[in-house]
Amino acid sequence: MHENVLEAIHARRSTGRVSSEPVERELIEELLEAAVAAPNHKDTKPWRFVVLAGEARSAVGEAHARAVTRIRGSLTPEGRAKEAALLERAPVVIACCLVPGEDPVRAREDRDAVAAAIQNLLLAAHARGLGAIWRTGTMADEPEVREELGLGERDAIVGLVYLGHPLTDPGPPPEPRQGATAVTRWRGW
Ligand SMILES: Cc1cc2nc3c(=O)[nH]c(=O)nc-3n(C[C@H](O)[C@H](O)[C@H](O)COP(=O)(O)O)c2cc1C
Repeated sequence: MHENVLEAIHARRSTGRVSSEPVERELIEELLEAAVAAPNHKDTKPWRFVVLAGEARSAVGEAHARAVTRIRGSLTPEGRAKEAALLERAPVVIACCLVPGEDPVRAREDRDAVAAAIQNLLLAAHARGLGAIWRTGTMADEPEVREELGLGERDAIVGLVYLGHPLTDPGPPPEPRQGATAVTRWRGW
């Protein structure tokens, strides 16, 4: 059947170290089509993607640096520059955003759907030989970045997916994580 899906699931690893080589736009479009194929109750299409490359990363980086400065009270010029440059860790950063429904249950399920879309995106990136990592933190949580991305008050950044060509050969597959046995109860078996 689709054995390669299982292979991709088990072989995928977060890859933060990528080269600055650009990623073709067609390839990113393919990944986004995989993202929006995620399950979505009531077909609400709660996801929005902002694909950042080049200078557009700097604008978001500056917004993030403003947020960190506000939170910490002050930052040294070096510290500020470091925060502002965080998006330059990859040639492409996809802000994966949520536009939630009004109803609380719908809003929760909408966020679940965006998370599923991000996993699809990560798996599709892996399938195409790209390195990717889902990041959050201050960049995802603070209003400065949301505003820079043009999001509304109730919208959220569920993840920033950093994407690029991997720098090095990933080597042998990593040790498997703790299996499902310890976290599963079987009933009626
Ligand atoms: C909701 C969420 C938020 C995450 N935020 C970060 C982050 O801010 N920084 C980071 O390095 N990794 C982040 N990750 C990636 C995890 O650290 C990573 O998936 C975990 O270490 C397991 O590694 P693996 O993806 O290679 O299996 C996040 C993952 C999820 C699901």
